[in-house]
Amino acid sequence: MAPAPPEEAPEELLRADRLPFERRYSWSGRFARLRQEARSDLEGFWGGIARRELRWERPFDRVLGGTPPEYRWFEGGELNAAVNCLERHHSTATAHRVAYYWEGEDGSRRTVSYADLYERVRRLASALAERGFGRSDRAAIYLPMVPELPVAMLALAYLGIPFTVVFSGFSAEALAHRMNDLDARLLLTAEVGFRRGKEVPLLATARAAAAQCEHLEQVIVLRRTANPPALQERELDWGELLAHRSPPVEPVPLPSAHPLFLLYSSGTTGTPKGIVHGTAGYLTHLAATMRWVFDPGPVDVLWCAADVGWVTGHSYIVFGPLLCGATSVLYEGALDYPGPARVYEILERYRVSELYTSPTALRSLRRQGDELAGSHDLGALRLLGSVGEPINPSVWEWYFRVIGAGRCPIVDTWWQTETGGIMVSPVPALDSRPLKPGSATLAIPGVDVAVLRDNGTECPAGERGLAVIRQPWPGMLLGLWNDPERYRSTYWSRFPGVYYTGDYAVRDADGYLWFLGRADEVLKVAGHRIGTAEVEGALLQHPAVAEAAVCAVPDDLKGEVPVAVVVLRSGALASPTLAEELAEMVGGRIGKFARPHRVLFVGRLPRTRSGKIMRRVVRGVIVHGKELGDLSTLEEEASVEEVRAAADSLAGDLAPSRATR
Ligand code: WT7
Repeated sequence: MAPAPPEEAPEELLRADRLPFERRYSWSGRFARLRQEARSDLEGFWGGIARRELRWERPFDRVLGGTPPEYRWFEGGELNAAVNCLERHHSTATAHRVAYYWEGEDGSRRTVSYADLYERVRRLASALAERGFGRSDRAAIYLPMVPELPVAMLALAYLGIPFTVVFSGFSAEALAHRMNDLDARLLLTAEVGFRRGKEVPLLATARAAAAQCEHLEQVIVLRRTANPPALQERELDWGELLAHRSPPVEPVPLPSAHPLFLLYSSGTTGTPKGIVHGTAGYLTHLAATMRWVFDPGPVDVLWCAADVGWVTGHSYIVFGPLLCGATSVLYEGALDYPGPARVYEILERYRVSELYTSPTALRSLRRQGDELAGSHDLGALRLLGSVGEPINPSVWEWYFRVIGAGRCPIVDTWWQTETGGIMVSPVPALDSRPLKPGSATLAIPGVDVAVLRDNGTECPAGERGLAVIRQPWPGMLLGLWNDPERYRSTYWSRFPGVYYTGDYAVRDADGYLWFLGRADEVLKVAGHRIGTAEVEGALLQHPAVAEAAVCAVPDDLKGEVPVAVVVLRSGALASPTLAEELAEMVGGRIGKFARPHRVLFVGRLPRTRSGKIMRRVVRGVIVHGKELGDLSTLEEEASVEEVRAAADSLAGDLAPSRATR
């Protein structure tokens, strides 16, 4: 058992109870009481939340079932996610509330109320049902950030069709891989997206992907321009589909563990794995974290400035806010387009009260200076959030002081695609504990995070270790699609019986958690998750490449960026043109965000005697100018010198720590 953090914090930096928050909860003691409740009766705790927060078509028999690690929450229950997000608001005043303020990059705007959203969802669901799609199918969604994206997700949920949203920055190959893995019969896409003033050719990419997918039967295409292209075989126009009024269908009651969606995410090895989320546990986790962390009330406007293509958008643009009947901003485009004022204009125009974004976005805003924040009315803001990567304390302070004008608490929320929702975060609506810049503070009630040494014992305060989660939680993944073995080995075998996060963390003397980045072969580039194996796999498809090692190098803006070290086949010539071609190829095969920042050429890579590439050594040389740690298993010392020479040719341009060495 972890030592209980002090309930009374010794020093105050920022006290949340001084802030204008009072709403649903009384401050004092509420948080401590919740944690205590969860500690003494985990099932009673989550069961109560599930009963109170969700509408059930059939009540559950058991809170926690399944066979570890295949835990199943709320066994025996039946419900529907679209009913919970939309239908149950229909008979209330929420029907007239705004669900989304949508804004396009060119300034176009749409306002979608809960009633509108529900109507669109029902019509799309009815049309899909009429065409024979149902809960035994799977679908893919490849759409930009338009209201039709949540409409598609909820219409599929309405029918119980598990879906995967593929971020619109992904390549045809990535889309095809996902559709084939799922045997998707249906794809919903758009003619184009808009980003940085340019059209993103989604349909062309979707067609290239569809050509590789045998199972795909129907592609539904949303028009976006005045001159849409002629549709091809198996494609259907979204508007026409809805214009033909199909007989209405009822939402399908689904077992608690029915898969709601899958998200493909990078791991240590191989291709991205399909992380499966169920219905009841996931929604319960979101309902709880929405209330504890964001606590939206009738005047709040939330702007989670992530893309719905990643889990943050699924949970805190779509399912979480809709469960609560909250109002969100949905913005399609780059945050700094056409100019740096864009973010501030949106905050001002919609009177955004809660902003949730990534440290990368904040670093880029900070670079633009403080004036823009001062020249816009950001007075509606009351809560600021950060997600996706560690936030530098100096960026945190800037966020607090400049964007929040010193009045808004910051919730630094730690979680993962696998966890479904927020796991570690300040809960200002409940807790008056002080915040600490750079720390996600404490686990939410009902979640038990520990920091372990390699040997499985708990690290004392101040010692870095591996973060694990010791008890099941409702938002947890159900497993990996079609791969129970990989599910066990990835998450449950590092330390038997506990969930392994893949993150380094340290707990301080006050019990606060500080997450320090990935401990495995996973990179966080601008908050996006990329596996070194995935980038290496893409490089190896080039005929000139014999071997490749990819590692994470710190970057002032993006947190970290991938750098590739490549060994060419004999006969191939290293050149800047080839380096550019290889980087381009990774962008094309995975998506632009995965493009290596630099490609270095060497004659050989550091390997162990058994032939494994020593990425740790490569990274040490590139980032710090020296090898770190134990080299006793290294096969050939000269290989290290080669990496050093290649990196030296770029020194200064790569990592700041090298330039000053
Ligand atoms: C990884 C998960 C959180 C949903 C979006 C990303 C890193 C996430 C934090 C934070 C430090 C963080 C971790 C984690 N991470 N939030 N507040 N502080 N690191 O989900 O793409 O599955 O990535 O993001 O390394 O393991 P994801």
